[in-house]
Formats: sequence, structure tokens, C-alpha cells
Amino acid sequence: MKQAAEKNISLKLWTFILGMVILLAALGYAVYRYMEEVDAKEAVQAELNSTKDQLAFTENELSNANQDRAQLSERLNEEKERNDEFFEQIEELEDTVGILDKLSKTDEELLQKYSKVYFLNEHYLPSKLKSIDEDFVATNAKEEMKIHAQVWSFLDDLLEDAKRDGVELRVLSAYRSFGDQASIKSGYTFTYGSGANTFSADQGYSEHQLGTTVDFVTTINPSLTIGFENTEAFKWLEKNAHKYGFTLSYPRGNAYYQYEPWHWRFVGEDLAEDLDDDNAHFYDWDQRKIDEYLVKIFD
Ligand code: DAL
Ligand code: ZN
Repeated sequence: MKQAAEKNISLKLWTFILGMVILLAALGYAVYRYMEEVDAKEAVQAELNSTKDQLAFTENELSNANQDRAQLSERLNEEKERNDEFFEQIEELEDTVGILDKLSKTDEELLQKYSKVYFLNEHYLPSKLKSIDEDFVATNAKEEMKIHAQVWSFLDDLLEDAKRDGVELRVLSAYRSFGDQASIKSGYTFTYGSGANTFSADQGYSEHQLGTTVDFVTTINPSLTIGFENTEAFKWLEKNAHKYGFTLSYPRGNAYYQYEPWHWRFVGEDLAEDLDDDNAHFYDWDQRKIDEYLVKIFD
């Protein structure tokens, strides 16, 4: 019995010891796992901090790069603006050279005032003359009718368009040389004496010597009479001639000659249009203002 009781006590003791060992082992394992997790957490935290530092560094680099890029872009824009200005200056220069070149090739006499003001000598000839189509020349015209070659296309358009509108215009006089004008004037002077000065220019003072001026008549009445003023042809010219670059030189009450409703001078579309808008005539405007139109007279 005693032996069995001792065995029982010894078993309990061993069981207790074993229990304690297992408990201690579990406790130890738990502590070990806890320490392991703390280490892992610290490692993750350290990595996170390092990533944050890297991120901050990268952000900083990015911000520097952006600043650099903004500066570069600003400099690029400045360069572009300077380039644009430079090209504009070159273009302006080219325009000016073009205008000067065009002006040097344009006859400077074409917009001068010849009526008793300015003089064309006996050697002056238009750069090139062209015959006016016979269909548009008055049947009573004395000889072949010529016009400044560069004016012809404008005159041709005017005559064709008038015809389309039912207005039959004819040219009775166009280019007249210094010599032609001299003989016309002496013929008139012979007949009318000094009275001829009221309707006929001296040689060198006639717009007809430029080759840009025409006297229009109608098929019904092909002579130069004040009555031309009352024709449909004159009304058409008053309304439309400026569109083809022609202007009436001697309106009623002008300072130079008697009223000449038939005498129209080519001055270029721009000038004729502006004179018309201004309700003015060629001799009303200052020569300096008129000169500005010379470069574009045939545009
Ligand atoms: N009949 C104009 C004025 C001229 O002779 O030119
Ligand atoms: Zn005339």
C-alpha cells in the first residue's frame, strides 16, 4: 500500500514537472515569437523610413528638375520671341526693298500734276504704248489710237463692262506726243487766240502726253461737247470709272480748264477709289498725298 501511494506521489510530481516544462517551453516560444515580430516590425519601419527619405529626395530632385525645365522653357520662349522679332524685321526689310525696287521701276511722272503746273519735255515718252482695239476707237478719230501699255487692261475692262451694261463708249483721243500737242494747240490758237488756253494745254502740259489719259465719246455723238455730260455714257463713267482706276481731271469749276466731262485720266484703282470716296478730284489733293499711291498705280 505504502509503495503504491509513493508511486502515485511520484507520478503526480513528474506530471507536474512535465506540465511546468511544457508551460515554460510554450512561454519561451511565445516570448521568442513576440521578439521576432518586434524585430520584423522594426525592420519594416526602418524600410518605410528609408523609402520615405528616398521619396523626399526624389520629390526634391523632381522639384529641382521642374524648376530647371521652367527656366529652360522661359529661355526658349525668349529665344523664340527674339527669333520672331528678327524674322519680322527681315520681312519688313524685304517689303521695304520690294517697295523701293517697285518704285524705282515705276515712272515717277505718272501721278504728277501737268495742268499748267508741271512740265514734260519733248523727249518724254511713255515706257511702252499699245494700240487701242479699233472696235473701241471713235470712227472720226484721226489716226491709230495708242495708250500706255500697262493702262490698256484697265481701259479694256472699263470699255467691255460699259458695253455689257449697254453703254457704247469710244475713244476719240488718247496718247499725244509733245509734237502732237504742239500742233493741236497752235491750230486752236490760230482759230481762238488766247481763248484756246481755256480748253487746250500747251505742249508739255497735257496729261495726254503721259499715255494714261483718254477722251471718251459715244457712238451717237462722237465729238467733244459739254452735252456729253447728259449722256448715259457719262453717268456710267461717273459711277464706275474709278473702279478701273480712272478719274475726271477737269470737273465743273476746276482751276485749270473749262469743264471737260470727256477727259479721264488713269491714276490707279486705289487712288481713284479714294478720291471717289472723298468726293474729291485729282487736282484737289496735295501732291505729297498723291505720291503715296505711285508704287501701287498698276496693282
Ligand atoms: N484738253 C486738255 C486740257 C488737254 O489739252 O490736255
Ligand atoms: Zn483730253
